[in-house]
Amino acid sequence: MDSTDGTPRIGVVIWTSQHLGSELHAALKALKWFDKGGRSRNERREQIGFPCLQSSALTIEQMDELRAVFPYQFEHEVLAVREVGPSVNPHDRLRKCALGWAGHQGAELPGKLVETLPNKWERLGDLIVLPIDAFQDDAWCERLEAASSSNRHELWQNVATALGGTRLARQAQIMDNALRSPQLEMLYGEQTWVEFSDHGVKFGFDAQHVMFSAGNVTERHRIGGLNMQGETIVDAYAGTGYYTLPMLVRSGALHVHACEMNPASIDGLQWGAEANNVADQLTVHQGDNQTTLPSLIGIADRCHLGLLPSSEAVWSHALNCLKPEGGRLHIHMNVEEGSIEEWCEQTISELRQLSKELGRVWTIEAEHLERVKSYAPRVLHIVLDVKCSTV
Ligand SMILES: C[S@@+](CC[C@H](N)C(=O)[O-])C[C@H]1O[C@@H](n2cnc3c(N)ncnc32)[C@H](O)[C@@H]1O
Repeated sequence: MDSTDGTPRIGVVIWTSQHLGSELHAALKALKWFDKGGRSRNERREQIGFPCLQSSALTIEQMDELRAVFPYQFEHEVLAVREVGPSVNPHDRLRKCALGWAGHQGAELPGKLVETLPNKWERLGDLIVLPIDAFQDDAWCERLEAASSSNRHELWQNVATALGGTRLARQAQIMDNALRSPQLEMLYGEQTWVEFSDHGVKFGFDAQHVMFSAGNVTERHRIGGLNMQGETIVDAYAGTGYYTLPMLVRSGALHVHACEMNPASIDGLQWGAEANNVADQLTVHQGDNQTTLPSLIGIADRCHLGLLPSSEAVWSHALNCLKPEGGRLHIHMNVEEGSIEEWCEQTISELRQLSKELGRVWTIEAEHLERVKSYAPRVLHIVLDVKCSTV
């Protein structure tokens, strides 16, 4: 395979969330690290990787150099990288598949159709989920309406294959209800249940009925990489187990109390707990966490607060869940880029005030700030790790 696909060499591949790809690409080019002749032989769910000229793991100095121009989460690994050969870039494959489809119909694909091809999507196991506006602009609508249903079927099948899946869906309007259940329009295939593994953790859920926060994969890996040996955790927004399952499977947590109000997410969470053999270390508290958290007072070493734009509504409950000797909070938040330091200071001072009101005598400090991703122009999704202790 290598003789036709190109000669492999060993090189560093730097990974980040798919939607930060253009920022990382620009940063690597500015540092003159990007290897434009190389192609990663690996693919990762929800992430994009760029081959670099370095042939061994990045040094601490190099990681600091990259952080200075790319202040988001990234991971690097040393992999076999192809020097030359056909594209393994899914964007190229999508373009070729659309061109091929139009060609089969005896029609040229006008530039406008190529330009408006989707440039991002999510992969949930073998199900590819396109954004709500994919193939929905006037030029594509006109072309698709003119095609027969079997031709459309062929296009959707080819798109799914080009993007590495066997089923294809498009995000539909998120229902305006408390659970914000996403709706999918299935374009190829019918089943909406998905299963996949990531970093040795199995996930499963009905993509039609749950909100799965794709794009936070580096944060999920970070949380799964922390040492929680023997700890009891409260996950206040557990969903399908995006953080709960890595904490149980990878971090060594003893027990997780998972608060969640969406029954469809709970189905996924329970499926994941069984699939990962950790069901006896999980207690699910179904319902609004304003009601369920107050039943978990003084039991936790750590409380995970993974709701955007803010989980402030449960900060007091979360502090109250911690053991008398203290513990840690992981607070997710969307914050304006220029106000992050100020927000951290305000948050710590608010937590000190809340803990005083609860009669907890703790030293409360910011332990770590993680810049997860850009959420909107000039708004960052960050996670503040907070330590509460009696010293
Ligand atoms: C951003 S999602 C996190 C999902 C999870 N990280 C995942 O991807 O599976 C937030 C989750 O919190 C749940 N949620 C939101 N508000 C809640 C509340 N007041 N009480 C309990 N669960 C809540 C939602 O149903 C959703 O599953």
